[in-house]
Amino acid sequence: MEQFYLSLLLLFVSFISLSLFFLFYKHRIPFTAPNLPPGTIGYPMIGETLEFLSTGWKGHPEKFIFDRMVKYSSKIFKTSLLGEPIVVFCGASCNKFLFCNENKYVISWWPDNVNKVFPTSLQTSSKEESKKMRKLLPQFLKPEALQRYVSVMDDIAHKHFGSFWENNTQVTVYPLCKRYTFLLACRLFMSIEDETHVAKFADPFYLLGSGIISLPIDLPGTPFNKAIKASKFIRKELLKIIRVRKVDLAEGKATPTQDILSHMLLTCNEDGQYMNELDIADKILGLLIGGHDTASVTCTFIVKYLAELPHIYDRVYQEQMEIAKTKSGGELLNWDDINKMKYSWNVACEVMRLAPPLQGAFREAINDFIFNGFSIPKGWKLYWSANSTHKSEEYFPEPEKFDPTRFEGKGPIPYTFVPFGGGPRMCPGKEYARLEILVFMHNLVKRFKWKRLIPDEKIIINPLPTPAQNLPIQLFPHNA
Ligand code: HEM
Repeated sequence: MEQFYLSLLLLFVSFISLSLFFLFYKHRIPFTAPNLPPGTIGYPMIGETLEFLSTGWKGHPEKFIFDRMVKYSSKIFKTSLLGEPIVVFCGASCNKFLFCNENKYVISWWPDNVNKVFPTSLQTSSKEESKKMRKLLPQFLKPEALQRYVSVMDDIAHKHFGSFWENNTQVTVYPLCKRYTFLLACRLFMSIEDETHVAKFADPFYLLGSGIISLPIDLPGTPFNKAIKASKFIRKELLKIIRVRKVDLAEGKATPTQDILSHMLLTCNEDGQYMNELDIADKILGLLIGGHDTASVTCTFIVKYLAELPHIYDRVYQEQMEIAKTKSGGELLNWDDINKMKYSWNVACEVMRLAPPLQGAFREAINDFIFNGFSIPKGWKLYWSANSTHKSEEYFPEPEKFDPTRFEGKGPIPYTFVPFGGGPRMCPGKEYARLEILVFMHNLVKRFKWKRLIPDEKIIINPLPTPAQNLPIQLFPHNA
């Protein structure tokens, strides 16, 4: 019997090894070259991916970076992740180099997983697709548009808090924050308000989010396989929505400027061509992924930190109540109100410093170049890590201390606070995110104080930081 299990195990190991071999075989970029930065490329094929992911699962993603900064170099070291040779850039000057040399030495790059989840990126490339996306966004994220969104966001927040928070003594925060930011995105990107329609997407989005940055093993049951299936399901649903919108536009039931979906359907490229339906579905999918979970993580961690730090809560409450007092019954927040929320935004920034929703992002070297005396070969991937500066004593004294005053005056030195990246690839949704986070804080603190139900709840990074039990809390309404 033992022999049977041993053979089964050997068969399984061989199968996995062969799958990995074929998966990574196409990456023929050499892992060796003269004068590379110090570091190790780890085990054949999987490199150091498991160590990289497992420090995140244990809640300390910075450990992977800081251990190697101590062992090899405080600025750059080489490794291998997700089947690619990678150089990790650490610290302010390295961030500056990557952010300021887009298209000269580097271009944005996403792991192959992303291309497989977004099939339109396979037809061109994720670079081309993200260029198209950046062209489409300004119309939707320009200041005049953003100003209009404030009251819509506040209206949705009122309804959300009315339905899911009020009249409850206990709630679980993370799924509610996801629900809030996802509903906002569905409403503002596609004019969908129906909660049951929106709820249909929630689980597939969770699977998609956690499978995008995982080992690219497309076998039944793996996170990557689940992500691909989820993306197919969501794309199908999006295609239905797109087709209905086309009809509504033709019949005058929808307007060309009502949301990003109309805008995408009616915008053509330099050659006079309109985007096809699948292309639009993928763009909307990308925006929904990039645009809702990042902000919901920030809202969740705001709840966590405000529960732990009553003196910070008191100041946020004071600031938000000053604004609430100026409102007559039912009057919604406006742009001026948002601009008064300075302390609250400093708190949100400090939350993003300590728990950056994205841990970093990738670039690809488009030429051979020398950096800090080391050779970076063309085709190698580069990674900037938010934690390499956010958690560094050099830039943020007592880095583990929660201190929103770091953002007063001139704030942190350039290229050290980078939750949204920097340079031409900086997150185009930064201002949109600021609005939805501040509207959330306003609606939360004016209604409640709260207490964490699991005081030492573990944090895991998968790939976004998340409280392991989704942050259950007990609510204490102010008007009780
Ligand atoms: C707290 C919320 C958010 C955080 C922390 C965040 C962070 C980031 C980061 C770090 C990047 C990568 C930058 C790089 O490659 O160097 C990025 C890219 C991107 N973000 Fe955000 N983001 C947030 C919210 C949003 C929202 C609300 C939207 C949409 C409305 C959005 C849309 C995008 C898009 C489209 C890209 C890709 C840009 C490109 O390829 O050039 N993000 N974001």
